[in-house]
Amino acid sequence: MQTVTVALGARSYDVRIGDGLLDRAAEHLAPFARDGRLLVVSDETVWQLLRDRLQAGLGGVDAVPILVPAGEQSKTWTGLQFVAEQLLALGVERSDHIVAFGGGVIGDLAGFAAAIVNRGCGFVQIPTTLLAQVDSSVGGKTAIDVPAGKNLVGAFHQPSLVLIDPSVLDSLDAREVRAGYAEIVKYALIEDAALFDWLEDHGEALLAGDNAARSHAIAAAVAGKARIVETDERETDDRRALLNLGHTFGHALEAETGYSGRLLHGEAVALGCVLAFDFSAQRRLCSPEDDARVRTYFGTVGLPTTLAGVGLTGIGAQLAHHMRRDKKREAGKTVFILTRGIGRAFIDRSVDLDDVAAFLDRAA
Ligand SMILES: NC(=O)c1ccc[n+]([C@@H]2O[C@H](COP(=O)([O-])OP(=O)(O)OC[C@H]3O[C@@H](n4cnc5c(N)ncnc54)[C@H](O)[C@@H]3O)[C@@H](O)[C@H]2O)c1
Ligand SMILES: [Zn+2]
Repeated sequence: MQTVTVALGARSYDVRIGDGLLDRAAEHLAPFARDGRLLVVSDETVWQLLRDRLQAGLGGVDAVPILVPAGEQSKTWTGLQFVAEQLLALGVERSDHIVAFGGGVIGDLAGFAAAIVNRGCGFVQIPTTLLAQVDSSVGGKTAIDVPAGKNLVGAFHQPSLVLIDPSVLDSLDAREVRAGYAEIVKYALIEDAALFDWLEDHGEALLAGDNAARSHAIAAAVAGKARIVETDERETDDRRALLNLGHTFGHALEAETGYSGRLLHGEAVALGCVLAFDFSAQRRLCSPEDDARVRTYFGTVGLPTTLAGVGLTGIGAQLAHHMRRDKKREAGKTVFILTRGIGRAFIDRSVDLDDVAAFLDRAA
């Protein structure tokens, strides 16, 4: 087992990563149980697939499920109301810890419910998608989607523990695994060039299901996120914005494709990272060699690397329009994460969206 500590003073917590941790869940979760039970928020798919393993791993502690339908449509006011009222009906107390058992949707929904029920109770994350394991379960952002946009209502609420068992990924769709993998590559590109070297050598084994490779990369990615979150927990100075490498471009691509299955979030981030490197290379901030290496690598692992590949060429102005509406804007400026090379991302608030539109129109 590997442990990454997220050091946030009184809100510090461990992220424990290891093959088979779910089967030994009692060791880690028994301290959070009360009256021999734990309230577990999950989605119907995850619960169906993994409840027997969780229950067996918990031994004598009873997992009491609160289930919502699988998918983003549960991350709503209605879903939140349902979870909060179920927790209250089951007698949740402020000193209790609820368990979020699922992907990023469940982590965000259960985490937000934990932040507000009884004016705040504790929670523990057991993320079951690669995206949730390397990104959404760590850092304390919780939210729901509302008509005005995704993740616009939420709270910063750190978990008390994150338990990551990479073996749960065996049942996850290969495309979802690859999309989550894009976020691991993102961390490497932000500030961990050694991790990028390692991924070039071991990424394919990881994607094929090698649990040792999964654990290594998950731990490295979580450590990368922890380092950034520790210095900027609430995204008030510049550091946490670095985590958005590839995301300003990526969000525009997602908005254009209607957040549909046509382009998964991680796929949009992969292409977004390639575009951020291309844009940086054209401004002579980063070498053409690093730019080419990043594009080649995403292609090798089967992630999208060209606008043509996803049918989005020649709409630079339209994509820039989405960026103009992105909530990550500050004082009317879109925040871009650009790069001086692999592992050397930086924040730029002076990028002109007309230049970006022209760049996207020229991009292949
Ligand atoms: N809080 C944050 O910092 C943060 C960061 C990134 C993303 N997010 C949020 O995360 C969400 C996306 O998360 P996601 O991609 O995990 O989506 P998800 O939770 O919807 O999971 C994707 C699908 O995989 C299924 N699934 C989950 N685990 C499985 C397993 N082990 N085997 C088989 N199927 C499984 C789920 O039932 C679901 O259908 C978005 O709402 C996004 O806004 C939050
Ligand atoms: Zn992301």
